[in-house]
Amino acid sequence: MQAAELRKKFLDFFESKGHKIVQSSSLIPDDPSVLLTTAGMQQFKKYYTGEANAKRDFGSLSTASIQKCFRTSDIDEVGDERHLTFFEMLGNFSFGGYFKEEAISYGYEFLAETLDLSIDYITVFDPEKVPEGDWRKGVPFDEESYDIWKKILPEEKIRREGTDNFWGPTGAEGPCGPTTEIYINGTEIWNIVFNQFYCDRDGNLASLKIQGVDTGMGFERLAMVAQNKENIFETDLFEPLLGILIESISEKQKRIIVDHARSVAFLISDGVLPSNKEAGYILRRLMRRLISYGTGKEKNLFELVVANYKSFYPELNLERILSVFNDENEKFARTLNKGLSELIKLGEIDAKTAFRLYESYGLPFEVIKEYDGGKKTRNLSREDFEEEFKKHQAISRAGAENKFGGHGLLLDTGELKAKDEEELKKVTRLHTATHLLQAALRKVLGQDVKQMGSDITVERTRFDFSFPRKLTPEEIKEVEDLVNKAIADGLEVKMEEMDIEEAKKSGALYFFKEKYPSKVKIYSAGNFSKELCGGPHVANTREVGKFAILKEEASSSGVRRIRGVVTP
Ligand code: ALA
Repeated sequence: MQAAELRKKFLDFFESKGHKIVQSSSLIPDDPSVLLTTAGMQQFKKYYTGEANAKRDFGSLSTASIQKCFRTSDIDEVGDERHLTFFEMLGNFSFGGYFKEEAISYGYEFLAETLDLSIDYITVFDPEKVPEGDWRKGVPFDEESYDIWKKILPEEKIRREGTDNFWGPTGAEGPCGPTTEIYINGTEIWNIVFNQFYCDRDGNLASLKIQGVDTGMGFERLAMVAQNKENIFETDLFEPLLGILIESISEKQKRIIVDHARSVAFLISDGVLPSNKEAGYILRRLMRRLISYGTGKEKNLFELVVANYKSFYPELNLERILSVFNDENEKFARTLNKGLSELIKLGEIDAKTAFRLYESYGLPFEVIKEYDGGKKTRNLSREDFEEEFKKHQAISRAGAENKFGGHGLLLDTGELKAKDEEELKKVTRLHTATHLLQAALRKVLGQDVKQMGSDITVERTRFDFSFPRKLTPEEIKEVEDLVNKAIADGLEVKMEEMDIEEAKKSGALYFFKEKYPSKVKIYSAGNFSKELCGGPHVANTREVGKFAILKEEASSSGVRRIRGVVTP
């Protein structure tokens, strides 16, 4: 059965069971807590929490989708029989509609009856299998799932597992619950998650109001078993791509090349551009690794990816892929050979040296690590390299972006961007104004106001915060006046560095969605405002100029958005 037919079978099956079919969302998620989309449920998060109403939006409490996903966590495994960076995830979801009984029988019916596949075994959650001392030891045995499966499969095919069969946020609050996983030919094919509990920070469980189902089935793995192949690369999703590459390349390298070619094509088509940060940094590494293998076949690979996938993913844009790729290729070609000849001269390579090679020649970690069969890099770990990278990013002012010909930015902190001195001055003023704005909002509306997002361009600041209703004109005026008073008071802006825990205790505001390093900076403006922040800021609030709120509106449920400007 061809991949295209398999996709259709899946969607038709769930449509026949009353699911609304929803298109894949972009690889760039709305959710700022993740860099790229890693699971089908991501675009549906707000239906599980009750922030949005599935019945209203989809006419049904259940949906199904085939979602484009990208996971960096598996990047070191790519090249084996079944790991990928980009993959498609088939999923069916229920938001307070059906629960375990239906979810399990749908899974069984689709695999065993519609596709006529033979299930090896399935797993269910059992706290007996959880190691001593782990909080999940206290979660009850998922007897319900066990009993449902017992009506379908012989008992010897039902295995009990521990922590692998419990899904939930690690070290954080949120929905969580037991999972049941379906295995075919020794491979995990389908993960069915039951959002059953709400877990607090101490590991206490409460029943969720909206109990939900979230499932994920790796499409490439499904194709592998449905097409009766030994590994995913023998399926029609990869076979034609591998056919483009010449014999003399190792099997492992070929797999990495075709994996990366797919990822690059999809990431670029969803609007990611190479850079030295976040999703752009991931894309750059994938492209540079492709280039460093020197096959010269990238164009043919991209053409084939687009030809094979465009009917299902019309957003694939060959012209854009080639243009972004060729740009990067040109930039990297200038330093690649120099970098490689430097690499030849070196002995054992540690994280510092590897980072220097990255910084001077743009050689990505993967290329250095693999060089010469990895003989010089036995002790080089990804963690140590990332550590060097972070140290550097903390002082990531100009430099890197320019060196690698990124956007030619003078400043790029992720939050602030400026291409020249003049822009830098303007965004710095807006940045300090944003701190004053948050402090003023809390003074006027109360301490429940929390930052939910922020975006500063050279024209304006945009600040999102939690608040349940529209602000009155009086409140807006009061906030504006408070900010302008803080400016007129000429408060000194001071920076202190301290330990993250100490900083949080000090009462400084911080953005809960942000991942902070262990040492942080705190910026305060007199006694008016105090926040964890990377800077930069003006030295005295007087430099901000005059602040005005242009607009106050809803951003999403329970979140308000303010746009503000500064004038001289
Ligand atoms: N969200 C679940 C997963 O990613 C289904 O495995």
